[in-house]
Amino acid sequence: MDQVEFIKQCEGEGIDTWNSVMLLYRAAIRELDTKIQILNEEFKQTHQYNPIEYVKSRVKSPESIVKKLDRYGYEDSIENMVTYCNDIAGMRIVCSFTSDIYRMADMIGRQNDITVISIKDYLRNPKDSGYKSYHMLVTLPIFLSDKVVDTKVEIQIRTIAMDFWASLEHKIYYKFEGNAPEYISKDLRECSGIVSMLDAKMLSLNEAIMEAKAEEIT
Ligand code: GTP
Ligand code: MG
Repeated sequence: MDQVEFIKQCEGEGIDTWNSVMLLYRAAIRELDTKIQILNEEFKQTHQYNPIEYVKSRVKSPESIVKKLDRYGYEDSIENMVTYCNDIAGMRIVCSFTSDIYRMADMIGRQNDITVISIKDYLRNPKDSGYKSYHMLVTLPIFLSDKVVDTKVEIQIRTIAMDFWASLEHKIYYKFEGNAPEYISKDLRECSGIVSMLDAKMLSLNEAIMEAKAEEIT
């Protein structure tokens, strides 16, 4: 069942809906985290390097959920929250190289129990701010004692350089409450270009290293 059906059932049975829903999101992050760890370990075994530098995850705070619903113009209810707030469970996968981003996304998308709801490829189509990242909205089944609930998780996949850029930009955005002076926005867009250059260089450097290593072996 989906999360809307789940909360209706909880309400019908007089169960604490908020806590039940939050349990789903926490469980979804744990399930996904295990999946990612397994993929990373297997990849390391076959390709001799870790495609993932680090993984961060969080469940959105109640205050941020309410703020987002307000921003979208929905009244705060648990039904609206599971329907319209897609990033309550969020996971960020930070990779070494751009090629790893698509590999990771592919491996995640191919898992039978994961349903990909939508994809936003801000690598191929960066935002005006200069933001780059690969976003996937997925659901995965959470097995409870007497039901299975497909639970949403927002996954962001990016390189270390993109993550560095995004965290600085995020701080500046908050500092200026979304209205940063033009010279700062311009510098940020310029930095975003430098990030892409660095990522491209690092990727070709890594390829050269791998090739040299392969020649050494044969
Ligand atoms: P939100 O309502 O903010 O979630 O945007 P959306 O529903 O259009 O989704 P989108 O995939 O564009 O963005 C989701 C998340 O990506 C945000 O919550 C941020 O974590 C991140 N993000 C998107 N745009 C930017 C940006 O310009 N700068 C930074 N630093 N992060 C961004
Ligand atoms: Mg968001």
